[in-house]
Amino acid sequence: MSQRTLVLLKPDTVRRGLVGEVLGRFEAKGLRIVAMDQRRIDGEQADQHYAEHVERDFYPPLRDFVTSGPLVALVLEGDEAVEVVRLLNGATDGRKAAPGTIRGDFSLSNRENLVHGSDSPESADREIKLWFPDFP
Ligand code: RTP
Ligand code: MG
Repeated sequence: MSQRTLVLLKPDTVRRGLVGEVLGRFEAKGLRIVAMDQRRIDGEQADQHYAEHVERDFYPPLRDFVTSGPLVALVLEGDEAVEVVRLLNGATDGRKAAPGTIRGDFSLSNRENLVHGSDSPESADREIKLWFPDFP
């Protein structure tokens, strides 16, 4: 079943010059890019995106990180896109993520882990509306 999911190439991906590498993995897998925009977000937008995490201990440094520079927001579409993107991204902690995954190959951090992918179809709906309010 074709699905859409919201993906972020976080500021570390842009800073490290890995946008092409990471985007290439999603494209090579067969996911279609249906929206894409490089932008910088402020703290308020970070709070909306990470609404489920704002009270957590790890949130203040996460907020600083995601607002630290430009990121690339994407909507990807394809069969079971939500789960497929999470599998390509790998485990949250780059130090523990499996080799072959984006985080497993390029991240050594639990915070600066390159990518975000919606964790359910419901989260994807909410996040796509938040990041691309004019998107059909
Ligand atoms: P994401 O939402 O970015 O796709 O990542 P995820 O589902 O794998 O991880 P989640 O639990 O939703 O955490 C969101 C982001 O917060 C940072 N984080 N830091 N203990 C920590 O220091 C910690 N835990 C999570 C990561 O950037 C993670 O991707
Ligand atoms: Mg998450």
